[in-house]
Amino acid sequence: MISVRELTKVYRQPTRDVVAIDDINLDIDDGEIHGIIGRSGAGKSTLVRCLTLLDRPTKGQVIVGSQDLTAVSDTKLRNARRRIGMVFQHANLLSSRTVAENVAMPLEIVNAKKAERRARALELLELVGLQGLEDTYPAQLSGGQRQRVGIARALAADPDVLLCDEPTSALDPNTTDDILTLIRSVADRLHLTVVVITHEMLVVKNLCDSVSLLEAGKIVESGKLSEVAADVNSQLSRSLLPLPTHQPVTADLVIEVVGKADAVNTPIGSTIAAENPVTVDIAAANIETLGTTRFAHYLLGINSDQPINLTGIEATLARHGFSVRVRAARGVQA
Ligand SMILES: Nc1ncnc2c1ncn2[C@@H]1O[C@H](COP(=O)(O)OP(=O)(O)O)[C@@H](O)[C@H]1O
Ligand SMILES: [Mg+2]
Repeated sequence: MISVRELTKVYRQPTRDVVAIDDINLDIDDGEIHGIIGRSGAGKSTLVRCLTLLDRPTKGQVIVGSQDLTAVSDTKLRNARRRIGMVFQHANLLSSRTVAENVAMPLEIVNAKKAERRARALELLELVGLQGLEDTYPAQLSGGQRQRVGIARALAADPDVLLCDEPTSALDPNTTDDILTLIRSVADRLHLTVVVITHEMLVVKNLCDSVSLLEAGKIVESGKLSEVAADVNSQLSRSLLPLPTHQPVTADLVIEVVGKADAVNTPIGSTIAAENPVTVDIAAANIETLGTTRFAHYLLGINSDQPINLTGIEATLARHGFSVRVRAARGVQA
């Protein structure tokens, strides 16, 4: 549905050039919810502007459906952009207009009749759970309700893609959960492809099917949530499945392992000890569910009175579906 090819944005400045987006490639399938996570300054806002062509990329392509947005004229771009509904951090509603009028604004641009706009607004307000509030004004609503109005407005022109830029960053935790649930349910019902830009791992955890990590304008990791989380060597896995804080572990061998699905039910310590002459101490553990898949992340301290055969332990763990990262290996045989 969305293909980004070699997307680059350079801001030319008198003293130096700032490469805000650096050769990004990305493919997002129809109906997928893709999160792009990055810290402040990573290039998130620039990426959003380039995806919608509000800012012309220096190089590269943005293809939505079968249309290359970077190749169409400015007049055609206005039409093409209608296929992308935008949700912002602050709903940016017009305070002088009613809730229904705010929702219908994208339809004014296409000259829809007043009765038609009203009917569509009521339908969308019901979809986002705000029926009965159509004739109130934004100032009368809570932050979460205003964001619901923003989502309804983004859907007014019947887009294929919903592009959400920090949709919950201004909301409290409970309201965040409600809004993420709402985005998921409208995406399913309307078969939308969703791109969510965020700095919050919670948004990725609770909403996304797939994720990319943006750092200094580059995508440094990308994949299905269930695959990146299962790779103990991925930075995203460490944030998706954080270990509780713990005392430093001293052992001959200290490893981290991650397993998913059936592997979660493997008794990790006895499984390793059954095949290797070692004792295993579970120093920290986190078991949680992402989407519909369960994951287990362990920090293990392994000791033995003889040199440890790391290759053998890795083989045992691989056979049981665990990925392994070695933290410290003092008593390991060369
Ligand atoms: N209009 C601009 N002119 C020059 N530099 C910019 C401009 N917009 C963003 N940048 C720079 O590009 C980088 C990425 O910024 P931005 O996209 O705003 O990141 P984020 O949204 O992830 O915080 C930063 O180094 C920022 O200073
Ligand atoms: Mg930003």
